[in-house]
Amino acid sequence: MEFIIIQIMPGYRGGGLLRGIERISVVALNIALFAVFFFVARNARAQQPAAAPEVKQEVPDNPVEHAPPEQPIPYSHKTHLALGLPCSTCHTNPAPGNLMTFPATTTCMSCHISIATNKPAIQKLAEFSKSRQPIPWVRVYKVLPGVTWTHRKHLDAGMKCQMCHGQVALMDRMSETTSVTTMGVCLKCHTEHGAPTVCSTCHSWPPAN
Ligand code: HEC
Ligand code: HEC
Ligand code: HEC
Ligand code: HEC
Ligand code: HEC
Repeated sequence: MEFIIIQIMPGYRGGGLLRGIERISVVALNIALFAVFFFVARNARAQQPAAAPEVKQEVPDNPVEHAPPEQPIPYSHKTHLALGLPCSTCHTNPAPGNLMTFPATTTCMSCHISIATNKPAIQKLAEFSKSRQPIPWVRVYKVLPGVTWTHRKHLDAGMKCQMCHGQVALMDRMSETTSVTTMGVCLKCHTEHGAPTVCSTCHSWPPAN
């Protein structure tokens, strides 16, 4: 689906939406995103019966209870991914690549300036946008502080979001459905994929040399 956005929005390079945004005026942005939205929505509907090929979850389910946290806005991955949006519309991987980050409110407002504006959740979204405060999303997945973690090395090695985070496109409310943040799970996958397992891969001890 990403190729559609690349075609319609010059400047968009998987993950560079915001860089693209800076280059065009807000008006042009809205027109561009609308084009994307309608195109993508129509396509998503057309493709529904064939259900996109799914990447399998590789890590075990989280055996511990994992209610979704109360979020400042009841954002649904299910609703938005059904529109055909790629993850990179909202989750970029800026240098040094450790984090996937959360979208700027302007990314949400590019559609919600005119979509569902009568809904209380969208009015709250508009208030965050006006105040220029980032939306205080409550974090769901977190490794123990001090453990070395980077998304970039995993994405470069061909690991997909769904392998570690499960079937996000089916989730109305994001919760910690997998046990990817535990050491046993890191080690199991590293062993299976021939990735390093010496302690210093993920801990600052023992010193590398
Ligand atoms: C339209 C924007 C948007 C798109 C597209 C999107 N996300 Fe998100 N994502 C969010 C927002 C907003 C949050 C924070 C709220 C929440 O946790 O539900 C989030 C949270 C998450 C989290 C939880 C992060 C944490 O630990 O707190 C994961 C994992 C995630 N997204 C994965 C994905 C994957 C995988 C895709 C593509 C299949 C995707 N997202 C597509 C907006 C988006
Ligand atoms: C590509 C366009 C697009 C983007 C970008 C987008 N949305 Fe949406 N959003 C929609 C559409 C379409 C709906 C469904 C509207 C409906 O059912 O009336 C929706 C629905 C919602 C709803 C449910 C509203 C309700 O109460 O029915 C919330 C909340 C929401 N979006 C929040 C967000 C947030 C937060 C972001 C940014 C992280 C975001 N959206 C980004 C298109 C978008
Ligand atoms: C190899 C497993 C793995 C893969 C693949 C993976 N993640 Fe993560 N993700 C994690 C772990 C572990 C954390 C917690 C990291 C932390 O505490 O900083 C996390 C945290 C996040 C967060 C919240 C913190 C942040 O980085 O901003 C988001 C958003 C997220 N992932 C989205 C994604 C998306 C989107 C993809 C695919 C492009 C993806 N992840 C691929 C394991 C993975
Ligand atoms: C889905 C499988 C998978 C999971 C789960 C996973 N990893 Fe990895 N990890 C890999 C692969 C594959 C590489 C790339 C190895 C390479 O490039 O040679 C990698 C590389 C790394 C690297 C970079 C190593 C280096 O020196 O280049 C770090 C650090 C790392 N992982 C930490 C973690 C941590 C911490 C966890 C658990 C929170 C984790 N990984 C979970 C598959 C996984
Ligand atoms: C692939 C990444 C990875 C490797 C390699 C790794 N660990 Fe861990 N380790 C983690 C993660 C992630 C946690 C946090 C787990 C949690 O929060 O449940 C952790 C936590 C720990 C803890 C408890 C918390 C702390 O930091 O004190 C100890 C002790 C530990 N590891 C020892 C080791 C030893 C010894 C080795 C080498 C034999 C090793 N680890 C190799 C990822 C790794």
